[in-house]
Amino acid sequence: MTPARGRFITLEGGEGSGKSTQARRLADAISAAGRDVVLTREPGGSPGAEIVREALLNGAVKPLGADAEALLFAAARADHVDQTIRPALERGAWVICDRFIDSTRVYQGALGQVDARLLRALEAVTAGDARPDLTLLLDVPTTTGLARARARAKGGPADRFEGEGASFHHKVRAAFLEIAREDGERCVVIDASQPADLVAARVKKAVLARFGEAFSASAPAAP
Ligand code: TYD
Repeated sequence: MTPARGRFITLEGGEGSGKSTQARRLADAISAAGRDVVLTREPGGSPGAEIVREALLNGAVKPLGADAEALLFAAARADHVDQTIRPALERGAWVICDRFIDSTRVYQGALGQVDARLLRALEAVTAGDARPDLTLLLDVPTTTGLARARARAKGGPADRFEGEGASFHHKVRAAFLEIAREDGERCVVIDASQPADLVAARVKKAVLARFGEAFSASAPAAP
């Protein structure tokens, strides 16, 4: 018998919103309930996509313009979906992904002005039917997020997008909130300005509200 498709949860948000920490905590909590969980991230999440990630985040592609960046994020996503996300969903695993198509809509679309029709076409090719069942938008005031990101970098160099100015990051926040407003079925906005434990509790509550079964032990495998 083919296993039921797993669930696909994405975490989105600006710099310093705590997505990576919360993605890991959520994956641990679901796994503790006995479920098969795959924790992954974008750009990256498969060997091919990790190679593209390096070029995107070290700034090498920036001079080529936002369209080229969008194409490369799409190339990375195509490999990530094919190699990691779709196989996991097909075997019934829960996939927790740190950033996905909403990041492209925000950074390359709203900020980079890449044509929305091109982005939709790329989504269709790269993600196909592997669309998130639930997206958690971790929302923090821009100043808080940037201060956290700087503290995390400990004076090291900022990556391609961290290096943009405050007004860029204000627009990022507004664009994410606009997506969540337009797609309230799929998206839940979480106030991520609170301590990590509190945010983790809110994340868990949102997942429970959407899929009660996430934290109940899964049925034992058939003999
Ligand atoms: P990353 O180091 O993963 O940091 P973060 O903790 O902020 O997630 O950086 C990913 C960067 O790539 C982030 O600044 C957003 C950007 N990005 C895009 O511009 N488009 C995309 O489609 C994705 C997935 C990420």
